Amino acid sequence: MLTMQEIKNHYYFTDTDAELLKELFPLAQSKSEAMVEEFYTYLLKIPETAAFLREPKELARLKKTHAEWFLSLFGGRYDNEYMLTLQSIGQAHVRIKVSAHYVNAAMNVVRRFLIEMLQANFPEISVRRKYRIAVEKILDINLDIMSTSYQEEELRRVFVSH
Ligand code: HEM
Repeated sequence: MLTMQEIKNHYYFTDTDAELLKELFPLAQSKSEAMVEEFYTYLLKIPETAAFLREPKELARLKKTHAEWFLSLFGGRYDNEYMLTLQSIGQAHVRIKVSAHYVNAAMNVVRRFLIEMLQANFPEISVRRKYRIAVEKILDINLDIMSTSYQEEELRRVFVSH
């Protein structure tokens, strides 16, 4: 099993990337409600994902959960504890049987949202570029760790069926 440091090395994720993400925290915080609205508009449009979001009381709680995850992208600390949290997030989706396809597609919604946020707030290309690269790395790392939960579940099923 990889450590968080190894994963960061494989994505060329440096302390500078961590600092850049931390700098974006206030901006991301001011946009987190808009991000969650876009995220849920997307999930509610697709019958397969909307099926997980039927209960209104549960929906409010889940929106808060997804907003907290969004802000954790800009927390500035990306250690083994962070990795364990992402593994458990991946496992939560495996457990309730959200297909990996929808997690990947939802990540694309977040990515697009963030790219547009940077586009609107950093007119200077060289500044925007360094933030964008740091954002792309942390999103890919998140997806990588969450996807591993799906791969492990797949292996477990193959193993059990033999
Ligand atoms: C739970 C993040 C995609 C539906 C969660 C949790 C987080 C999270 C942080 C809390 C996990 C926990 O309690 O430990 C994400 C991220 C996604 C994503 C980062 C992709 C970018 C989706 C999609 C759906 C979904 C596509 C489909 C509707 C849910 C539901 C729960 C949940 C229903 C509650 C699970 C439970 O009750 O245990 N998600 N999510 N998520 N997510 Fe997502």
